[in-house]
Amino acid sequence: MSILHGIRTLGVLGAGQMGTGIALVSALRAKVPVLLHDRSSEQVTKGLSLVDKLLAKDVAKGRITSDEAKDARERITVVGSDAGIKGLRDVDMVIEAVSENLSLKQSIFGSFAAELRPDAILATNTSSISITKIAAASIPSGVSITSEEGKRSAARVVGLHFFNPVPVMKLVELISALQTSEDTLERARSFAIACGKEVTVSKDVPGFVSNALLMPFINEAIMCLEKGTATRDDIDTTLKLGMAHPMGPLQLADFIGLDTCLAIQQTLYEGTRDSKYRPSILLERMVDAQWYGRKNGKGFYEYN
Ligand code: CAA
Repeated sequence: MSILHGIRTLGVLGAGQMGTGIALVSALRAKVPVLLHDRSSEQVTKGLSLVDKLLAKDVAKGRITSDEAKDARERITVVGSDAGIKGLRDVDMVIEAVSENLSLKQSIFGSFAAELRPDAILATNTSSISITKIAAASIPSGVSITSEEGKRSAARVVGLHFFNPVPVMKLVELISALQTSEDTLERARSFAIACGKEVTVSKDVPGFVSNALLMPFINEAIMCLEKGTATRDDIDTTLKLGMAHPMGPLQLADFIGLDTCLAIQQTLYEGTRDSKYRPSILLERMVDAQWYGRKNGKGFYEYN
């Protein structure tokens, strides 16, 4: 364990594709015990079966031994819905990976402040929401933002943005809120490195660097389809073969989740008031139809 990050136990809140991936790299690469919590037990079961599948594949490919896989799996403990966030009370750091919804994240960070140790780092895997707003929500109600307690509470909040699929993508984007302390930043950075990731740093602007660049690109591809500039397959093939992208933009949108893409684009548009970030009507309608992409079987493509 790195001396700098000092994370002896990690909490992960949310067992979707991001939370599960974060739990896996933390247990396997950083070798820390992980407490995984999701309010849906069905989601946790799905997440753990993905962890088992990925560990078995790493063993089959000779990347890790079966003992290493077993140790990593044993480091992940599920915190059931009865215990809830209280079940994470002794962790040194928690990474929140729930859906892109500001009020949900604000309420979760309020509960973290109430339940977790005052020195625990509170990280969010948000893709676009203001870390500064989330940090403000971590100050217990009735505590002044200028009091020592208020400052300390917000100073331990940080953005730790992983990419999907977490075990494969080599990057973590590190984002400092206005309130984040240097110590929090450095410990979060060194934890991401212990997970085997490269770290880039972005200011707390809507979408940070990654999604301020990626989302207009995806949105422009959807507008091309909407305007009939080219077919779905020709748009994706142009970017895959012409620019060596591993996935075309429409495929990538399905992979990220169309609901997530729309939520990020709305945050970018509302946060900048710049029309270049306005989500396309087609994306809005597809989300209205509950076509969320790969996660529920239908987006620009269909999945079994
Ligand atoms: N979880 C874990 N591993 C996965 C995976 C998943 N969901 N999907 C694929 N992989 C692994 C495969 O198991 C395989 O591993 P091995 O080399 O060990 O066999 C490896 O990825 C390659 O997979 P495939 O051979 O099946 O397929 P591929 O070559 O087409 O690669 C891909 C799949 C890695 C997803 C590749 O298409 C890719 O890199 N796509 C772009 C992904 C991307 O841009 N992600 C960032 C999205 S943005 C984001 O996450 C943040 C945000 O804020 C929105």
